[in-house]
Amino acid sequence: MSAPRRLFQALLAICTVGLLAGCERPPIDTVQTGYRGTAMEQIYNPRTLAAQASLNAAPAVIPAASDEGPKAREVYQNVQVLGDLSVGAFTRHMLSITQWVSPQEGCAYCHNVANFADDSKYTKIVARKMIVMTQTVNANWKTHVAESGVTCYTCHRGNPVPAEVWYKPADRKNPQSLMGDMAGQNIAAKSVAYSSLPNDPFSPYLLDALPIRVNGLEAMAQSGAQANRASTKQTEHTWGLMMHMSKSMGVNCTYCHNTRNMQSWEQLPRTSAWHGIRMTRELNNEHLVPLTSTFPAQRLGPMGDVAKVNCATCHQGAYKPLYGAAMAKDHPELLTLGPKVASLGTSLPETTRSALQSGAGSSDKAGEQASGVDQLTATMTATMTATPPAILANRELARNQAVKVGDTLLAADASQGKVMLEKPLPAIAANLAGGDPAARQAEVKVK
Ligand code: HEC
Ligand code: HEC
Ligand code: HEC
Ligand code: HEC
Repeated sequence: MSAPRRLFQALLAICTVGLLAGCERPPIDTVQTGYRGTAMEQIYNPRTLAAQASLNAAPAVIPAASDEGPKAREVYQNVQVLGDLSVGAFTRHMLSITQWVSPQEGCAYCHNVANFADDSKYTKIVARKMIVMTQTVNANWKTHVAESGVTCYTCHRGNPVPAEVWYKPADRKNPQSLMGDMAGQNIAAKSVAYSSLPNDPFSPYLLDALPIRVNGLEAMAQSGAQANRASTKQTEHTWGLMMHMSKSMGVNCTYCHNTRNMQSWEQLPRTSAWHGIRMTRELNNEHLVPLTSTFPAQRLGPMGDVAKVNCATCHQGAYKPLYGAAMAKDHPELLTLGPKVASLGTSLPETTRSALQSGAGSSDKAGEQASGVDQLTATMTATMTATPPAILANRELARNQAVKVGDTLLAADASQGKVMLEKPLPAIAANLAGGDPAARQAEVKVK
C-alpha cells in the first residue's frame, strides 16, 4: 500500500471513531406522545435519565421557626428586605440560603463575621438583590413557575455561581475575511447543543426582545399582509434558541410543537415556554444587568457583561426544575415581595464600612448577635451533616407518560443503575383509534 493511501485510511479510521464517539450509546427508548405514525415521540436514554435524577433531588427543608417574638428589623441593624420576619424565621432563612448557595464556605461567603450588619462583601449585596429576584419569580411569574415556585437552590444547587449561566461570546466579526460576520456559526457551541447554529441565541431573545417567530402565515406568500419577511439568518437564530430550550429541558421539539405545524399552540408546554422566555428576559434585564458594577471583574464575561440566566439555569436538564418539586411552599418569605424593594442599592456603601471601623452600633445588639450566631452555626452544621439530600417528596403527576419516567426513576433511587424501561406493546396494538391513553404508557421496572 502506498504511503498516502495508508495515511488516508488511517485518517478515515480516526474520523469514523470520532464520529461514533459523538453518538449516544444504545439502548435508546422512545415513548409515543401523539397519534401513531406521526413521529410524535419523546426519545430517552435511560442512562442519561438516571444521571439526571440524582442531580435533581430537592434539598432537605430546615424545620419552620416560630413567627412569635421580635422582628428582625428590631433586633438587627441592616435588614432591608426581610425585616418583617421574626428573628427565628430570619435565622432559618440565613441557614437555608447558606445551605443553598454556599454550603462549603458558610456564613462568611456573604458576611464579615465580625459584624454581620456590614455590607462590604459584594456577595451580600448580590444576595439581597437575589432575595428580591426570587420573590419576584414566585409572586409575579406564576404563569411560568405555577405553585412549584423557586428558591435559591433551583439555580444554585449548592454552588455560589450556578452551574448554567451565560455571557455574550467574544466578538468574532472579521471584516478582513471573505466570510465576514459569521454570526457565531460553525463552532459547535454548547449554547446550541453542539449544533453549528449561531452560538449566541440568548442576546437577541433573552436580553433583547427580537421576534422569535419566523414561519409565514400562508404558504409561499411573498407579498401582501401575510408575506414572510423572516430571513434565513433570523431563522437560524430561532433554531439556536430552540436547541437550547430542548437541551436544557431534556425534551425533543415535539414536546412543544406538533411538527406538522410549528406555529400552532396546541401543545400546552409551548405556552409555558412562551412565559418562560419573557420571565427569563425580565430576570436578566431587571435583576442581573443592574448588578454588573457590583461584581468583581473576574466574574464578568469576555465582553464585560454579568453572568445571566437562561432556561438551563433553573431546568438543568429536567422538563420541570427538580422534576416539579414544590420548592417555594416551605419558604413563605420568598413568596411575596417585601415593601422596600425599589430603594435597594447595588454598590458597596462607604458609610457602612466607616461605621464598622469606628465601632458604631449598639453593643447590646452586637453581643446578642455574636452569641446567636454561634448557636446558629452549630444548628446549621448539625442540620447539614445529619440530613442527606432527601429524595424529593413533592411530585405532581407529570403531564404525559413520557415525563413520568423521570419521576419514577427518582422514586426508585435511580443511582442504583438497575432501571429498565419497557413499553406495553399489547396496549399499543389494541389502540387502533389512537385515543387510548394506555397506548402511551411506558413501564419503568427496577431490577
Ligand atoms: C448568600 C449570602 C448570605 C449568607 C451565606 C448568609 N447571609 Fe446573613 N445576610 C445576607 C443578607 C443579604 C442579609 C441582609 C438581609 C436584608 O437586608 O433583608 C443578611 C443579614 C444577616 C444578619 C443581620 C445583620 C444585621 O445586623 O443587619 C445576620 C445576623 C445574619 N445575616 C446572619 C447570618 C448567619 C449566621 C449566616 C450563616 C448561617 C448567614 N447570615 C449567611 C446574606 C447572607
Ligand atoms: C434564577 C436563578 C437564580 C436564583 C433563583 C438565585 N440566583 Fe443567585 N445568582 C444567579 C446568577 C445567574 C448569578 C450570577 C453568577 C455570578 O456570580 O457570576 C448569581 C449570583 C449569586 C451570588 C454571587 C456569587 C458569586 O460568588 O459571585 C450570590 C451570593 C447569590 N447569587 C445568592 C443568591 C441567593 C441568596 C438566592 C436566593 C434568595 C439566589 N441567589 C437565587 C442566579 C440565581
Ligand atoms: C419548551 C418548548 C419548546 C421546545 C422544546 C421547542 N420549541 Fe420551538 N417554540 C417554542 C415557543 C414558545 C415559540 C414561540 C416563541 C415566541 O413567540 O416568543 C417557538 C417558536 C418556534 C419556531 C417559530 C414558529 C413560528 O410561529 O414562526 C420554530 C420554527 C421552532 N420553534 C422550532 C423548534 C425546533 C426545531 C425545536 C427543536 C429543536 C423546538 N422548536 C423546540 C417552544 C418550544
Ligand atoms: C427561574 C427558574 C426558571 C427559568 C429561568 C425557566 N424556568 Fe421553566 N419552569 C420553572 C419551574 C419552577 C417550572 C415548573 C412549573 C410547574 O410546576 O408547573 C417550569 C416549567 C416549565 C415548562 C412546563 C413543563 C411542563 O411539562 O408543563 C416549560 C415548557 C418550561 N418551563 C420552559 C422553559 C423555557 C423554555 C425557559 C427558558 C426560556 C424556562 N423554562 C426558564 C422554572 C424556570
